[in-house]
Amino acid sequence: MNLIQSLLVLVMVVGVAYSHDYGDALSKSILFFEGQRSGRLPPNQRMSWRKDSALHDGFQIGVDLTGGYYDAGDNVKFNFPMAFSTTMLAWSVLEFGKTMGSEQKHTLEAIRWATDYFLKATSVPGFVFAQVGDPYSDHKCWERPEDMDTDRTPYAVSKQFPGSEVSAEIAAALAASSMAFRPSDPGYSATLLKRAKIVFEFADKYRGSYNDNLGPWVCPFYCDFSGYEDELLWGAAWLFWATKENYYWNYVVKNINNLENSITKNVNGVSYSGGSFAEFGWDSKHAGINILVSRIMKNSSRSDPIVPNADKFVCSLLPESPTKSVSYSPGGLLFKPGGSNLQHATALSFLLVVYSRYLKQVDRVIHCGDVVVNRARLIQVARGQVDYILGSNPLNMSYMVGYGKMFPQRIHHRGSSLPSIDEHPQHIDCKSGSSYLDSSDRNQNLLTGAVVGGPDIKDSYADSQADFVHSEPTTYINAPLVGLLAYFKSNSSP
Ligand SMILES: *[C@@H]1O[C@H](CO)[C@@H](O)[C@H](O)[C@H]1NC(C)=O
Ligand SMILES: *[C@@H]1O[C@H](CO)[C@@H](O)[C@H](O)[C@H]1NC(C)=O
Repeated sequence: MNLIQSLLVLVMVVGVAYSHDYGDALSKSILFFEGQRSGRLPPNQRMSWRKDSALHDGFQIGVDLTGGYYDAGDNVKFNFPMAFSTTMLAWSVLEFGKTMGSEQKHTLEAIRWATDYFLKATSVPGFVFAQVGDPYSDHKCWERPEDMDTDRTPYAVSKQFPGSEVSAEIAAALAASSMAFRPSDPGYSATLLKRAKIVFEFADKYRGSYNDNLGPWVCPFYCDFSGYEDELLWGAAWLFWATKENYYWNYVVKNINNLENSITKNVNGVSYSGGSFAEFGWDSKHAGINILVSRIMKNSSRSDPIVPNADKFVCSLLPESPTKSVSYSPGGLLFKPGGSNLQHATALSFLLVVYSRYLKQVDRVIHCGDVVVNRARLIQVARGQVDYILGSNPLNMSYMVGYGKMFPQRIHHRGSSLPSIDEHPQHIDCKSGSSYLDSSDRNQNLLTGAVVGGPDIKDSYADSQADFVHSEPTTYINAPLVGLLAYFKSNSSP
């Protein structure tokens, strides 16, 4: 190779490694949450094609349940995944807030949009609202949120009909958010923390799964397959970090050994076995608990089984690990079974980056069988996933709407698919919207920053609205990505 050739290779390598504008992607990933807002929009709403919607949620029972987020491409407010997304946004601020720059303000606004709603959803003592909107009625229609005329039924869990997973996840979200707001708004932070404690106590004292008590209203939509023990521990771990009270630490220590009991269940005819250290997402919090607790307690002698299980989680992911339990596409994207695959790529990569910081603090490496893994490798794997999402993949396609040259144009999302209120002020009813879903035209409105379910395991992507498994964005794909992008924005050297 002559000098010119070597330089060219160098330029190409460097060009690939530095080709992403993480700052731009960060701004967009947060803006997406404005497109998912329910309720009365504020004057500083930037995603301006969206308007007020669902202004009477809860009114039929005399409780104000307006606000919060639609979870994905539909118009239901599912509080269980909404709370998880909020916890992840808050965790993103706690870990990477300093490198967010001016976007930290927007991230805190995105968190507050959820926490204001969760304060309402937990305002009636003895009840926690778990959902607003009849999912069957909603899913039958293709309607803009602004036009919605489907049943906005509120669903609650109670002492008699508990839902420990949804309640404890809301407690986790409130506790994590209380820390995110502590420097800038101590009063609000204190309000959130006080409520988090009450909601956690309710979740723990009245135990049960909302699967059993809300049945077909939550399953199969956001059925809790992994049991509620993980949310109780996750909630306790967040409350320990937020309060430093021994009560929560003792709760974690006392119950952590129950976590790894593998669970086999049959929910609505679907058999499931899990409860494992390798899982993390809106349903299962296991890997997140181990990594969060490792991070909070640092070099404590009481690290067993937490740190060993966190190590096992890392070994379940890395391509070179003998105990890998995920798949990778030829282009390098991580895959786990089930739909909306990019949720795994973002949530698991987030944990890798957080754990790499822990490894730095305690100055150690991980052994996956004979393979020695250092912290830089964790960052490298996480970065590979983020770069893939942003366009370093065989199709050269960004999976974030509005980012890069080529991105999804036909996402499965009612508001984005239908003409906006500005363009088309007349009401579009339930079935009149169907022609937009059936159409192969591009979406009418850009849901900037939305990351879709992603390509299939052969790295192909159909870009079709009907293919919701791949083309639907969700709040829990984006929330961990916010933290990752903030990290890579200021740590962009390979
Ligand atoms: C953490 O523990 C390891 C092994 O016991 C030790 O080598 C390291 O210095 C400790 N780190 C800190 C920050 O205390
Ligand atoms: C993606 O980009 C690379 C580098 O510019 C190019 O070689 C390749 O042909 C592109 N692939 C597709 C599917 O456009």
